[in-house]
Amino acid sequence: MERFQLRTEILIGGDGFGAMLKERKRVFIVTDKFMHESGRVSYLTDRLAPDAQHRIFSDVTPDPDIDTVTAGVSQIVEFQPDVVVALGGGSPIDAAKAIVFFAAKQFKMENCPFVAIPTTSGTGSEVSKFSVITDRSKGVKYPLIDESLLPDYAVLDAELTRSVPPGVTADTGMDVLTHAIEAYVCTEANDFTDALAEKAVRLVHQHLLTAYANPDDLTARQAMHNASCLAGAAFSNAGLGLCHSMAHAMGAQAHIPHGRANAILLPYVMSYNAGCESTLTPTAERYAALAAQLGLGTSSIRQSALNLIHLVRRMESRMKMPMSIREAGLSESDFEAMLDNMTEAALADRCMGTTPVPCTADAVRALYRQAYYKAGRYRSL
Ligand SMILES: [Fe+2]
Repeated sequence: MERFQLRTEILIGGDGFGAMLKERKRVFIVTDKFMHESGRVSYLTDRLAPDAQHRIFSDVTPDPDIDTVTAGVSQIVEFQPDVVVALGGGSPIDAAKAIVFFAAKQFKMENCPFVAIPTTSGTGSEVSKFSVITDRSKGVKYPLIDESLLPDYAVLDAELTRSVPPGVTADTGMDVLTHAIEAYVCTEANDFTDALAEKAVRLVHQHLLTAYANPDDLTARQAMHNASCLAGAAFSNAGLGLCHSMAHAMGAQAHIPHGRANAILLPYVMSYNAGCESTLTPTAERYAALAAQLGLGTSSIRQSALNLIHLVRRMESRMKMPMSIREAGLSESDFEAMLDNMTEAALADRCMGTTPVPCTADAVRALYRQAYYKAGRYRSL
């Protein structure tokens, strides 16, 4: 059975959100220390009604853990808010989802909307039903997947992304592109997720390089913010695939930022999925269809798929991103030492469940090696 769900109401720009926030009297804000100490949390506090009370929970760190969630839940239960607002990148939004999820088991939250306000254009967490919480004592990451994790509102205000530095714009923008491309070719894709993924790819194609080169271009920034949300809704419904599985494993073990890991791996994974090195697969036709959306289609499916792969490489190059795992800073000895563990973790990753082309441990290992040594057909790209 095919299905598609989008529960979150999306508010574009800060105006409509400000009116809604003014009606609330007890505002619980989940963010991180940087947002709090840099004063950027004033985006919210300046919009509150004069008689409103607020509490800021800013203990969220990257890869939020169980202790953070437990502390957040007890503060919500004590404060009794009438709205919970998450402000920040993927980590504060992921943490807030888990905090709201568990707080709702102890405190009536029916009339307490949950608002997610992303400050980077990448994760799509504001419209996804996923959250990942880490148990540091066991060294384990627990994925939470539940419809109730979906925020009630997502606020997409490009003004908040203006100060994101170019390197982060590149990493997060390529994460958006990977979300859209993987959602488009994965096993659970349908007409609804395709529409979102196609639009996200077109927006990234048109606007990412501008957002990278001109951080103050709010038209490009808003387009990338919208693309991130569209791609988030696509993959939240359809799923992802091999590139994300390999990037998750590489991020955990080699500590390469998530979007950068995806950007390095994506061309190799696309080539594998399409069968560019051997016999073309049905996934090649999907890449060719996406290439056609961007005006890169030809009468040859192989060439169209290659054009899309080359586009990914060109965008990375134009944004001066590392083009291999080696260029991302991992030494050869460290890479070889962690290759088997990364391969095992990638195969066990939940994103493998929707990847379009079956994959063995040998194939994953070979793809990591290609991406490390820039081997194979794409060494010159
Ligand atoms: Fe991602």
